[in-house]
Amino acid sequence: MRPRVVVTKDIGKEPLARLAKHAEVVLLPPEWTAVELIHHLQTSEALLCNVTDTIDKALLRACPGLRMISNYGVGINHIDIACAREQQIIVTNTPGVLTEATADLTWALLLDVSRRVSEGDRLVREGKWAGWEPLFMLGREVSGKCLGIIGMGRIGQAVAQRAKGFRMPVIYHSRRRLPEEREKELGAQYVDLEQCLSEADYVSIHCPYTPETYHLIGAFELERMKPTAFLVNTARGPIVDETALIKALKDGRIAGAALDVYEDEPYVPMELRQLEQVVLAPHLGSATEETRLAMADMAVNHLIAYFQGETPPNVVC
Ligand code: 8YV
Repeated sequence: MRPRVVVTKDIGKEPLARLAKHAEVVLLPPEWTAVELIHHLQTSEALLCNVTDTIDKALLRACPGLRMISNYGVGINHIDIACAREQQIIVTNTPGVLTEATADLTWALLLDVSRRVSEGDRLVREGKWAGWEPLFMLGREVSGKCLGIIGMGRIGQAVAQRAKGFRMPVIYHSRRRLPEEREKELGAQYVDLEQCLSEADYVSIHCPYTPETYHLIGAFELERMKPTAFLVNTARGPIVDETALIKALKDGRIAGAALDVYEDEPYVPMELRQLEQVVLAPHLGSATEETRLAMADMAVNHLIAYFQGETPPNVVC
């Protein structure tokens, strides 16, 4: 009998056609429910999922025949890894291929919020632009300012690399310190979290979301930042206490924020949407044609390797 794989969202014709050569592909309809997912998974041995799917204990317990989860994306916070490990389910992710796209988007947001691009765009579209003025819509210069990176993994390093073009000193805080050689290459200095927050003109978050990083940036941490500094988050929403961030922005505790991720996506609090000094992107970190295709290929390749009896690469458990 051919193995079955449940795919929770369409990831493109060609990768799915390739997958279909090795297994029966059950592509769920756009508005599926958890009950439907469990129903299909009970007769399938593999799952191809993404960040919008909650793969929790209840689901895994209900699907004892599930043997492999291929996650389309690098973040795996939506999967109960401990439970998957207990049930001896192989879980893979797609690291590497989205590093550059996410680093690019980080810079797009950083530049946007600092130079008020989206704010200006809104003004022009609304027909409110009355003409050039010496003191009109002044933002803050990016070049030469201090960039603070929280989480110096692949994406953090790719963001740091780009800072060179802007002649920006980089300070960072991370679970693991980089080898000295790499620090030199990037021109990055390791500091503690408090120093990173208090010295940086831009604080950019690139750590994974784990129980330890939940609300890593809250009222206390925002209080440490300069009133002229900006917060950029392209990692995961719950790393930042959104309520505390809204308060800090409203009180002028920090100059602005540029966000690609939110605590309860796709919900974005109205209070945040009403603030002009905030740039809000709809989780676009890896959203380029090239990267999404590479992610799809990688996620499919992991499944094919599994169906062929091999151990797939990028196993997280
Ligand atoms: C992905 C991401 O597009 O890979 C990640 O962790 O945050 C995104 O850029 C998304 O997770 C798809 O599953």
